[in-house]
Amino acid sequence: MSNDRIVVTRQPPGSALQLLEEAAAIWVWPHDRPIDRSTLLREIDTATGLYSMLTDGIDHGLLDAAPHLKVISQMAVGVDNIDLEACRQRGIIVGHTPDVLTETTADLAFGLMIAAARRFGEGIHDVHAGKWGDWDPNYLVGHDVHGSTLGIIGFGRIGQAIARRATGFSMQIFYTQRHRSKELDSAGPSFVTLDELLGESDHVVVATPLSDETRHLIGWNELRRMKSTASLINIGRGPLVDPDALVRALRTGEIFAAALDVTEPEPIPTTHPLASCPNCFITPHLGSATTRTRTAMAELAARNLVAGLRGDPMEAPVIA
Ligand code: DGY
Repeated sequence: MSNDRIVVTRQPPGSALQLLEEAAAIWVWPHDRPIDRSTLLREIDTATGLYSMLTDGIDHGLLDAAPHLKVISQMAVGVDNIDLEACRQRGIIVGHTPDVLTETTADLAFGLMIAAARRFGEGIHDVHAGKWGDWDPNYLVGHDVHGSTLGIIGFGRIGQAIARRATGFSMQIFYTQRHRSKELDSAGPSFVTLDELLGESDHVVVATPLSDETRHLIGWNELRRMKSTASLINIGRGPLVDPDALVRALRTGEIFAAALDVTEPEPIPTTHPLASCPNCFITPHLGSATTRTRTAMAELAARNLVAGLRGDPMEAPVIA
């Protein structure tokens, strides 16, 4: 056994803990809620490895309290909760879990797109409230998904997986991202500017990572560019969309509907105006939530951590 000590901030599924235990001494936060800051600050003091969740704020303060930390491995693809520059400065390597969650997250995005355009939220609410009356030709009429135009903001792995599904629904596909991809253009989806995408799409899916540049990427000006019949779907991170602007756009009919798997703040309080907008359908950050995918994420994060501590290349590094 090595001299390494690993702090695990939440019980991961599958054989992740076993993999970690074979490599080092481990300490696992035992509760069914995110670890509190003071416990993490105490436990990280002697740790060489950190197995983290997206709910852990990994900033200068935490890293200052971790003088022996060599490796951080996050059980998520998004690492916006980690100050990567601070890790680089300290020579800490960082891993994450791309690929294994791509298709599962794209499934959820597609489900949300259909839910928003076809008014699932209002329909479910009516059934539960005993408001389902006789069949009515004008009741909860929404918009088609098949044959419509899809705009994808952020054309990485998940964005491309959403586009593959859209092809089966005979959709025209636009995407925007920092760099145009020639290879992808020849396969069908067309690169456009954000402005063009917002103006032309019937469904706009936000699937880009959160950074200082993309925070509130979708605000009032962007929502106003969208068609009044269009839906906005956010599967990236809550702060990509300005929630106040979104409430206003949903209430004034500037856009038709929204479906959010991520919110700002998260979890969203039941008193938040978005939670009571009838045309806003919210799921609680379920993008990767299937047994197979969460197990694959947990085990990939464990392998990343073990490899990093041994000085071997990680399967999925963010900072190698
Ligand atoms: C991620 O991995 O970043 C997701 O948000 C959780 O599946």
